[in-house]
Amino acid sequence: MKKLIIINGPNLNLLGKRETNIYGSMTFTEFFDSVVKKYPNIDLAYFQSNIEGELIDKIQEVGFTYDGIILNAAAYTHTSIGVGDAVKGVTTPVVEVHISNTFSREEFRHQSYISPNAKGVILGFGLQSYELAIESFLS
Ligand code: DQA
Repeated sequence: MKKLIIINGPNLNLLGKRETNIYGSMTFTEFFDSVVKKYPNIDLAYFQSNIEGELIDKIQEVGFTYDGIILNAAAYTHTSIGVGDAVKGVTTPVVEVHISNTFSREEFRHQSYISPNAKGVILGFGLQSYELAIESFLS
């Protein structure tokens, strides 16, 4: 059984009530439950933190044993050399995910410290971005 983890960064705990015009009205828990049901043959874990160092700790913790990391580092994507270095430092492949199309938004969202070391990047498909990332690990 493949072992995958979704790691979400700051403010993504507010999904469902935060800027719903951009991020939608579904909570991540609702979405995660539906994904777990849809993929019974995947061992899928979930971690969210608003704290940069906790995201780095989690990437290090899972990054040598899991089959894949699906990472939405949210705002830290655009600011954190530390999270970028963590992605670079582990052996587990990381797929970078964003709910919104960051390239259609403010210019500061066009920069990513994750992308250079990610296996791939999926963005702009709403919560479906996460599912597409899961699919990428199945093929
Ligand atoms: C985001 C895009 C980021 O620019 C933003 O800071 C987020 C969410 C997304 O999933 O679209 O918090 O990562």
